[in-house]
Amino acid sequence: MAPVGGGRTTTTTTTTTTGAVAAAAAALFASLLAAYFIPWKKLSNNNNKKKNRNNNYYKKGLVDAIGNTPLIRINSLSDATACQIFGKCEFLNPGGSVKDRVALKIIQEALESGQLRPGGIITEGSAGSTAISIATVAPAFGCKCHVVIPDDAAIEKSQIIEALGATVERVRPVSITHKDHFVNIARRRALEANEFALKNVNSQLNGKHTDQINGHKSDGSHRSLFPIDCQGGFFADQFENLANFRAHYEGTGPEIWEQTNGNLDAFVAAAGTGGTVAGVSKFLQEKNQNVKCFLVDPPGSGLFNKVTRGVMYTKEEAEGRRLKNPFDTITEGIGINRITKNFAEAKLDGAFRGTDMEAVEMARFLLKKDGLFLGSSSAMNCVGAVRVAQSLGPGHTIVTILCDSGMRHLSKFYNAEYLSELGLTPKATALEFLGIK
Ligand SMILES: Cc1ncc(COP(=O)(O)O)c(C=O)c1O
Repeated sequence: MAPVGGGRTTTTTTTTTTGAVAAAAAALFASLLAAYFIPWKKLSNNNNKKKNRNNNYYKKGLVDAIGNTPLIRINSLSDATACQIFGKCEFLNPGGSVKDRVALKIIQEALESGQLRPGGIITEGSAGSTAISIATVAPAFGCKCHVVIPDDAAIEKSQIIEALGATVERVRPVSITHKDHFVNIARRRALEANEFALKNVNSQLNGKHTDQINGHKSDGSHRSLFPIDCQGGFFADQFENLANFRAHYEGTGPEIWEQTNGNLDAFVAAAGTGGTVAGVSKFLQEKNQNVKCFLVDPPGSGLFNKVTRGVMYTKEEAEGRRLKNPFDTITEGIGINRITKNFAEAKLDGAFRGTDMEAVEMARFLLKKDGLFLGSSSAMNCVGAVRVAQSLGPGHTIVTILCDSGMRHLSKFYNAEYLSELGLTPKATALEFLGIK
């Protein structure tokens, strides 16, 4: 579109004949008309833009409210280390944790690929947060959720999942190689849901038969415990499904980059599935390979050894032979003794070990000094952030993840009696437990 001023210049050119004068007058009129309408049109476009901008004051449903979490300076830790330590407030996601991003991405990709259909049941073996997030997000896509959870996980987690309308199976913790490990049961339940839905479809086809649903082919061996309107199942598989990694590579990582204007020296986080540390570290290192990325690893996990020495465990200790003792650590959702597909994507420069005592002390310290009421993995991440600050020295900017809130951890991590039985009663007055006076 020609600029308004340009139109005026051409139409006021000097003319001599009457016809030319009339033409000039008509052109002038046209240009005035244009001058009147074009700015109005521009204005109305601006109004539209304003309207669009105003639309951003609300989110289009729960799904739109996931991600874009605030990055906050953790004042106490920053002041104590003379670094800038930032926490990404993932506990502010609608489902209360970093796993909302993962649940959303897994469901979106599964629907797009046709492995899941609206009305389908998403099954997951999860010690809590991911299950809560799937149960939160699934209804937004017309789906249901079935969760298999180890019975040593905090009871409030399964209570929340059930309250969200999902079904929950609490099972005995066994090795991942056992067929009844909670992850393996969850995988089986998705198959059963597909079998069940297939039977229903076939009975409605009045004799016409199909042997496939959601890409699943029947072997005729499964029975089901799912509702009659079940549209098949899909195993979310947060450990091996790379949608998990992508949620952080495409979301959390870019957000951290933008929120720090690319001015960060290091990122640190613990790993459960490894999705967070992998997605964020890979994104940040692609942006700037000088950004150092670290793991902080709780007791009982083999990842510290893997990152620092290249081997996870001796043969005897490897996952499968070694039943991970549930009391290896009181931190929930982090630590693992196998390399998942998600963790394999991580770009790490090093690792630190963190202890349960440090995590407990850190949680109490942050509550007292910053008013931050955080879960156990977030506390461990903050231990990691201080360790990174100590190793890099003053003046560095370090980012970590505040995965979920302390509300999810009342019966264990914030239970004085429980901690006392394990000899984990906090007693620090400041950060002396990390060697800071
Ligand atoms: C509360 C909590 N924090 C941290 C993590 C670890 O995150 P990731 O699985 O991305 O390694 C999990 C994983 O389940 C979790 O539930």
